[in-house]
Amino acid sequence: MWPRWPGSPVSDPIQAIVVASANGRVGLPAATEILAAGGSATDAVIAATRLVEADPGDRSVGYAGLPNILGEVELDASIMEGRGLRAGAVGGLQGYQDAIDLARAVMDRLPHAFVAGDGTRRLAQELGYDGRDLLDPETERIWREGLSSEGITDGVADGSARSLDQVMQMVTRLSADPERTHEMYGLGETPDEPPHGTVNVLARDRQGNMASAVSTSGWAWKYPGRLGDSPVIGAGNYCDNRWGAAACTGRGEMAFRCATAHSVVMFLRFGYTLEDAVTQALRDMEALDDPFASEVNIVALAADGTHFAGSTVENRTYVWQSPGMTEPDERPRRVVPLTFQPGRSV
Ligand code: GLY
Repeated sequence: MWPRWPGSPVSDPIQAIVVASANGRVGLPAATEILAAGGSATDAVIAATRLVEADPGDRSVGYAGLPNILGEVELDASIMEGRGLRAGAVGGLQGYQDAIDLARAVMDRLPHAFVAGDGTRRLAQELGYDGRDLLDPETERIWREGLSSEGITDGVADGSARSLDQVMQMVTRLSADPERTHEMYGLGETPDEPPHGTVNVLARDRQGNMASAVSTSGWAWKYPGRLGDSPVIGAGNYCDNRWGAAACTGRGEMAFRCATAHSVVMFLRFGYTLEDAVTQALRDMEALDDPFASEVNIVALAADGTHFAGSTVENRTYVWQSPGMTEPDERPRRVVPLTFQPGRSV
């Protein structure tokens, strides 16, 4: 039995809500204000995500996001609407901080769902966004120190070094030593969010429509052009008014290979509880043969407005807010530790 698309006219007001990864806190009051005024879930998630993209204190999203191995900040973002499964995404955006706005422009103004590379810059120019050097001095310092602490100096200044080898050296170090990673990212001892960062924002509006937004600068010291899960619909982001929405942070390659956000929504469709849907989607990652496996986090919002979040590691939280609340509420995520058997493949 297929439910009708919620979002068609309803007689009773539906409780609006916005849910985000912990670093989305800065955007929740603005999103809640939009929802309280009867605005759309899409406008709410865009407004919240924009504020995170503009925040220089968040080195995993937008302006001042950590760069690739060459020192270039490359942004990825996606948006999905739960009514009609509309979606838009950009990948590898350079020189503009407005990744989520451009993802929406792909959805609203092009007959496409995904634009990557030079086309994203062209789109930003055509739409009149202001260009910006995304690498702030502190982020550049972290990028340089990360390289030099690994003895990577030759060819960095002129980009002539073999990025292939450098990326492998950096990722080997980062995945082997998470504490060192936190230090290198300048996140302190108890970071709210994992070193891979990224922001997730999910919302349901008073019409019962849902939307989900994800924005990231991706892995620091990544290979130029690398795309993670965030701009990939189904991997880092998925939304369907009939069942719910889910989005991911953490090691994007894992969510990418497991189509994690889509899995959560499909598990809901097949009758799982929200808690079981998130837990199962995380457990599915145990099938991955991945020498660099590290943490993955999911936030989820069901069509009935209930919310839940999981993480493969401890001490991760998420935030949510509804009209009538003066500030976001922070909740712990359920820990679903993964048991990998190195070298195993299924
Ligand atoms: N989850 C963000 C990334 O891996 O790029």
